[in-house]
Amino acid sequence: MRASVLLRLVPLAFALVATCVFISTYVGFSMRTIRVPRWLGLAPKEETRVPKFKCGLRKSCPSDYFAFKINSGAANVVGPSMCFENQMIMSPVKNNVDRGLNIALINGTSGVTLKYSSFDMYSGDPNHLVKFLKEIPEDTLVLVASYDDPGTKLNDAIRKLFSDLGSTHAKELGFRDSWVFLGAKNLKNKSPFEQWLKNVPQQNKYEGWPELLELQGCVPKKVL
Ligand SMILES: *[C@@H]1O[C@H](CO)[C@@H](O)[C@H](O)[C@H]1NC(C)=O
Repeated sequence: MRASVLLRLVPLAFALVATCVFISTYVGFSMRTIRVPRWLGLAPKEETRVPKFKCGLRKSCPSDYFAFKINSGAANVVGPSMCFENQMIMSPVKNNVDRGLNIALINGTSGVTLKYSSFDMYSGDPNHLVKFLKEIPEDTLVLVASYDDPGTKLNDAIRKLFSDLGSTHAKELGFRDSWVFLGAKNLKNKSPFEQWLKNVPQQNKYEGWPELLELQGCVPKKVL
């Protein structure tokens, strides 16, 4: 009696298992077929993900702050870049960076770019940079990124001018160091926005150069 019940249950159990396998296979197949569109943002790929915040920052800046991101150059291969309020001011893609020191001046109140320039610090005339730094108007933000060699032609006058803009490391900057800095005209204190990596052959990431540096953050707007 018991055996015959079991025997009758066997086909039922088999049918049940077969149905489950069929359904799971079928559903799995259709879920793969009806793929969630990438633009829904549920399955983003790294290269298609749009930065959520200005300049690709990890967080948003308060309304009375500007967002910025400065990358130094990588060795003598990849040029530096500067983003300010989601605008790329200088970059290899814009083809407006060069070896030496890349400097952008920005109105600290409006956030409007006043001018930018590159200074060859290996074989250029350092007086061009002295003149540029001396003519910076009041309440101007100064963004600086090194590329290849920012140090050879630095002199005391230039180091002093950068120190007056709030730099801590301009006084020790040297041959093929990496340096990123955001300062301002008439800054009373040292700027919190600065990174410096000395060119030390035994520690360099690249053979003749230290690692590239990235500086990002929110800088307060100057209120008139
Ligand atoms: C900076 O922007 C403010 C406000 O728009 C303006 O009054 C000032 O003249 C500008 N400064 C410079 C140097 O352009």
